[in-house]
Amino acid sequence: MATRVEVADEQAGARERERPQKPSRDERQPRPNPLREGLRLERMAEPCTMVICGATGDLAERKLAPALYNCLLSGSLPPEFTVVGFARRDLSDEAFRAHLLEGINKFSRNRPAKPAIWDSFARGIEYHRGDFDDPAAYVELATRLDRIDRDRGTAGNRLFYLAVPPALYPEIVNHLDRAGLAAAGQRRRRGTKRGWTRVIVEKPFGSDLESARTLNHELAEVFDEEQVYRIDHYLGKETVQNLAVFRFGNGLFEPIWNRRYIDSVQITVAETVGVEGRGEFYDATGALRDVVQGHALQLMAIFAMDPPVEFHAEDLRDEKLKVLRAVKPMSPAEVATNTVRGQYVSGWVEGAKLVSYRDEPEVEPDSQTETFVALKLGIDSWRWAGVPFYLRTGKGLPSRVTEIAVQFKQAPLALFARAGVPQIDPNVLAIRVQPDEGILLRFGAKVPGQGMQIRTVNMDFRYGSSFAVDSPDAYETLLLDAMVGDASLFTRDDEVERAWEILDPILEAWQAGQGGPLHFYGAGTWGPPAADELLERDGRAWRRP
Ligand code: BG6
Repeated sequence: MATRVEVADEQAGARERERPQKPSRDERQPRPNPLREGLRLERMAEPCTMVICGATGDLAERKLAPALYNCLLSGSLPPEFTVVGFARRDLSDEAFRAHLLEGINKFSRNRPAKPAIWDSFARGIEYHRGDFDDPAAYVELATRLDRIDRDRGTAGNRLFYLAVPPALYPEIVNHLDRAGLAAAGQRRRRGTKRGWTRVIVEKPFGSDLESARTLNHELAEVFDEEQVYRIDHYLGKETVQNLAVFRFGNGLFEPIWNRRYIDSVQITVAETVGVEGRGEFYDATGALRDVVQGHALQLMAIFAMDPPVEFHAEDLRDEKLKVLRAVKPMSPAEVATNTVRGQYVSGWVEGAKLVSYRDEPEVEPDSQTETFVALKLGIDSWRWAGVPFYLRTGKGLPSRVTEIAVQFKQAPLALFARAGVPQIDPNVLAIRVQPDEGILLRFGAKVPGQGMQIRTVNMDFRYGSSFAVDSPDAYETLLLDAMVGDASLFTRDDEVERAWEILDPILEAWQAGQGGPLHFYGAGTWGPPAADELLERDGRAWRRP
């Protein structure tokens, strides 16, 4: 079995041996055409049915319906494409269509829906009422899907989207399997079922290593790994994909992308919002699990990985995994020194008052959950040894910004010091993921005039002004990827488990009261002063993006 993270303790070893045998990476499905996949040419999904489990929820309305509509608008979905909403609520097909249309009209980047496009989309939308714990609901679903294959020409291709709380995944996938809908182990059934079956699972993928392993194990009993698409919507963001192009499509940057030239890296995922009505979920989750486990560590892995052999899912994920494996999990003492956790108290953000986190609905009044976290991580590889990676994320911060900022080493000599110019600011390359997507390079330039004065200036590439087209939403990219069978932008079982191996010791130390206190920060500030001290100790400072 390739690239599986080694399990140290006996118990975990036993669990590992109990796992169903999976094919090695090489035995898995034939590789898609690298030219087509590598260049991500304009793509068109094959006819297929997408079954949304949990179809009446927020995700279907806010993200999935708008993404599907935009894919249809851009011609990436064939006319046969069909959606089946599967949920408990008693709804007619008409009412379900109205729910999706409302989502498009409220949240789509192209809105309102164009009547002609919507009408043709709506003809392929059905609602399937059923309880997730009722086997009959799945048998009826199977009959419905067979009928759709015959009537709409969807060729037995099925994409199941689990837009439900992760606690329901095992139950749903087991029922899908029993109803013959999971095409369990395509190897065993090859030749007996037409078409492909894939499943998209949403985050959070577990709440620690143990639960993520259990979840992976439960999925693996029903699906082969290449059927499972674990979504991390950050990977679908245009700028994140551009990071690979920036690094590996240009000759200029890769030679300096290492410890010899780079002093440190800062990854910021800052949000202005509070918990936005998700108090119950968030209070049991916190910033480390919600954002660092997936989004921030994935950004770091893509930023730091070695060039893949091919721009192919397995190669890319192998390289990302290597980065995560090179991050040494922290001891409790290191957690106390290298992490800072905070929780916001009421304050003003962008002109509006945010109430204290503890006053949010469904949040415990004495909650210890962190809404802010700053971390210093190291990647023990030849490329990155000694380069600190500072990660921070938080809610209730002064601006919404996600960026990776690379600080380069200073020039070896302060040549202009004799001319009275003190040390020049270090060069910074800031990769802006959102908003105002772009890349900024900061360097020193001579101020025009007879004297010698140097000022830091910006060289600025902005997506908005360089390209006259809107970027697709991450969900558009990712849904289409799943339909064409390209898993490059989805996380693999071993990556997810390694991320938890890095974070578990932090969560445990915090829980045991050994990882430093929970700090409080006013909403509308850049987190607690302790986060600044984390960098000041190293003679550095956070960028104020
Ligand atoms: C989600 C988190 O995964 O990402 C949310 O659960 C967070 O808490 C969101 O707000 C941020 O996503 P984006 O795309 O708005 O930056």
